[in-house]
Amino acid sequence: MAEIQTTKKGRILTGDRPTGKLHLGHYVGSLINRVRLQDEYDTFLIIADVQALTTNFEEPEKLARDVREVALDYLAAGIDPEKSTIFVQSLVPEIAELTIFYSMIITVNTLRHNPTIKSEAAQRGYTDMTYGFLGYPVSQAADITFCKANLVPVGEDQLPHIELTRKLVRRFNSLYGPVLVEPEALVGEVPRLVGLDGAAKMSKSLDNAINLSDPPEEVERRVKNAVTDPARIRATDPGHPDICTVFAYHTAFNKPVIPEIEESCKKGAIGCVACKKRLTATLNELLEPMRERRARYEANPKLVDEILLAGTARARAVAKETMAQVREAMKINYFPW
Ligand code: TRP
Repeated sequence: MAEIQTTKKGRILTGDRPTGKLHLGHYVGSLINRVRLQDEYDTFLIIADVQALTTNFEEPEKLARDVREVALDYLAAGIDPEKSTIFVQSLVPEIAELTIFYSMIITVNTLRHNPTIKSEAAQRGYTDMTYGFLGYPVSQAADITFCKANLVPVGEDQLPHIELTRKLVRRFNSLYGPVLVEPEALVGEVPRLVGLDGAAKMSKSLDNAINLSDPPEEVERRVKNAVTDPARIRATDPGHPDICTVFAYHTAFNKPVIPEIEESCKKGAIGCVACKKRLTATLNELLEPMRERRARYEANPKLVDEILLAGTARARAVAKETMAQVREAMKINYFPW
């Protein structure tokens, strides 16, 4: 089971930190690509619980629930456990082992200059940071390389981490021999979805998100409160779709209506209330099949656990093979017999 499936184009590894429910930003940024590509690529999805601890180390008890929430979101979004391998990071100790070896060949300054680390640290108001937080991109490189993934579907904010992974792979291979595979990032058509409040990014911590598991009334309520063109007072005032959050969502989720909505908004022919109603309908249509699938899996928590355990067993088998090659290349397989 562990060998690379030759009928596929290659291997994908990507994943998420289990810090709560996934939202529409995750969906358009990366999840949609994973669902689409799972037929063509041997797909590994990591639920990165160790990485979640880099910021949530004070509440480890939340992880048991959040790991399952992410698994449910994957399955609800259309990830097929027959095609994709969903697994839990902390249950693959080879990833931690690989992280230690990589940490020898990357400098602290390289990590300090990582723009995503910098902006996350600023957002959290860190004056100093833990060794684990500064180093999580190294651990992420281990996530990606233990299974020799060549494609990593991610949101735009993850690009610096993929760059770092590529750098580590080149360094490792030139020092010890060609064992690792240099991966490429694949960013979704909508690399960054604005928040409902108009903030640069949809994010759970900013409370400006629509979760994939939100019920229809919640979607309606949230869209109703979304920020539109502030200069538009009456429905007949000409609008400015280019600065409107709701228009950005039409663009992301219902391409065919873009020209029509753009024109009628500019002319003042469609008001924000009507425009929001249409968006609510579009989003609920997208989310309804996900709600149905989620309900089915929620009713069978044992099945979800089995999927995670089977996925983790497969990931471990692959990880063991790579670690044997890594040790051999580094000449630290002292007792190969
Ligand atoms: N850093 C990613 C995030 O915050 C999660 C993640 C962990 C990941 N390991 C990964 C993404 C490996 C892609 C590949 O969303």
